[in-house]
Amino acid sequence: MKKAILILLVVILLGGSLFIWSGVYNIAATDKHWVITNKLIEILRERSIEVRAEDIIVPDNLEDPARIAKGAPNYEAMCSSCHLAPGVKSTELYEGLYPQPPVFNNATHEAHDEKDNFWVIQNGLKLTGMPAWGGSHSDDDIWALVAFINQLDDMSAEEYLAITAGGEDHHDGTDEDSHEDDAADEDSHEDDAADEDSHHETPADEAEAHGETTTGTGT
Ligand code: HEC
Repeated sequence: MKKAILILLVVILLGGSLFIWSGVYNIAATDKHWVITNKLIEILRERSIEVRAEDIIVPDNLEDPARIAKGAPNYEAMCSSCHLAPGVKSTELYEGLYPQPPVFNNATHEAHDEKDNFWVIQNGLKLTGMPAWGGSHSDDDIWALVAFINQLDDMSAEEYLAITAGGEDHHDGTDEDSHEDDAADEDSHEDDAADEDSHHETPADEAEAHGETTTGTGT
């Protein structure tokens, strides 16, 4: 009996090693998981988050307009390229990512617990593209993002534009320039894009492709 178990273990180990080493598994983002794999990953993710977020204490003023207003420009700068926003129908990042980021203002999106959202924003999610923001942002900044996400559900494109472009700086803290630098980098992406004929023809086209122009000029 012991011998049979030992042989089974060796076979599993060898089989597993062969599977990994052979390269037969397709790691491409375009190769979707099986339904069962997706289900298992989902359970793993949800349990892992819940267990870790359990003891987080949620501030009782997430409805505070000042908090929401603080989260808005950060959401626009750091999150909307992946998670979209009211009036932002799609982006290249959103299209290319797998798993695809949830769209918080989509009616079908199942809202998570505030504790869970805080934990995910702080720590990120392995192998998904969801970054950890806790290293660069205070708890207060992260709660402001949680507060803002709560509001996205029934926000119009106009309201979104108004609140994110409210002229507020991204951070009250010392690292307030960091996203301005990012914005400068983004410009260089647009330049690259303009150079590469095959990509986007003009920065204006690119803006359109990114879904950033919500108020149409020609339509
Ligand atoms: C590079 C793309 C990317 C960026 C930028 C990004 N996210 Fe995510 N995020 C993801 C992906 C992908 C997932 C889904 C992972 C999954 O399905 O397991 C996710 C999941 C989440 C979740 C889990 C909630 C849910 O309903 O599943 C929250 C909350 C979240 N992101 C908030 C944010 C916030 C806030 C920002 C900006 C500070 C941000 N994300 C920036 C890609 C991104």
